Amino acid sequence: MALVTMKEMLLAARREKRAVGAFNIANYETARAVLMAAEREKQPVIIQLYMRLFDSEKAYDLAGMLIRLANRASVPVAIHLDHGNTIKQVKDALAWGYTSVMYDGSRLPFEENVKNTAFCVQYAHSFGASVEGEIGHVAQGDETAITEVSEAVEFASATKVDALAVSIGTAHGYYTSEPKLDIERCKAIAEALPELPLVLHGGSGTPLADVRKVIENGVAKVNIATEFMDTYLKSSRSELEKLNGKFLPIDKYFDPIVDECAAHAARLMRFFAGM
Ligand code: G3H
Ligand code: ZN
Repeated sequence: MALVTMKEMLLAARREKRAVGAFNIANYETARAVLMAAEREKQPVIIQLYMRLFDSEKAYDLAGMLIRLANRASVPVAIHLDHGNTIKQVKDALAWGYTSVMYDGSRLPFEENVKNTAFCVQYAHSFGASVEGEIGHVAQGDETAITEVSEAVEFASATKVDALAVSIGTAHGYYTSEPKLDIERCKAIAEALPELPLVLHGGSGTPLADVRKVIENGVAKVNIATEFMDTYLKSSRSELEKLNGKFLPIDKYFDPIVDECAAHAARLMRFFAGM
C-alpha cells in the first residue's frame, strides 16, 4: 500500500534537505513513466493533475487508474490536485480519492486567500489529506508577485497549510531569459517557518544550481510540468516519424515514449534527492 499524503513525504524531505519531484501528468503513459522512474530510483513521488482536468470527467477517470497504480507501487506516491482555484475542485478531488490538494488563492486579496485556504485545510484534513497553499504569485503568463517573509508567516499560521508555494523568481512555462532566484528570500522564509515544507513552482528550465540552493533552504517539493510534457510530445513526434506512415498497435508505439519520459523524470528525481 503505497498511496500516501504529501505531508508525510515532504516533512521528511525538508528535514533531510532534499526535495520530492511533483510531475504533472494527463494520461496513463505519463503516469506510468513517473512511477517507473520513482520505482527505479527508489524515490517517493507526487503525481499531480492541473485544475482544468477537474472541470471535466478527466481527473475523476484518471483517479481510478492512479489509485491502482499507486497502491501497487513499491515507493510512496501522493496524488495531487495542482493549482485548484475553486472550493468545488478541492471537494471533488478529495471525494475522488486524491490524497493531497493545492488551493491556489494567490491571485486573490490576502484575506480572501487566507479564508478559502483555511477552509480547504480544515476540509481536507477531515479526509486525512494534505493541503498546499500559495502566497505571493508565481507568474502563469501574468505578473509575478514576490512572496514577502512576513506574509508567508502570517499566511502559514492563519491557514495551517501542510506545504507552502512561494514566489522567489520562478515562472510557469519555458523562460525567455534566465530566471534569477532570490535565494536569500527563500532562506529567510525557511528560517521563519522552520517546520514547513516550501514548494517551488515553475521548475521547468530553472537553473539546476539554483534549484539545489533552494532545496538546501527549505524547498521540499519541486513542480515540473512543461519540460516533462514536452519530452512526451517530442518523443511522440519522433516515434511517429520513424513509422513513416506504417501501422503499429498504439501500446507498442507508446512503449519507447514512456521509456524516454521515465528517463527524464528519473534524472530529475536523482537531482532533487541529492544523489
Ligand atoms: O504547477 C506546476 C508547475 O509549477 C510546473 O511549472 O510548467 O514551469 O514546470 P513548469
Ligand atoms: Zn505551478
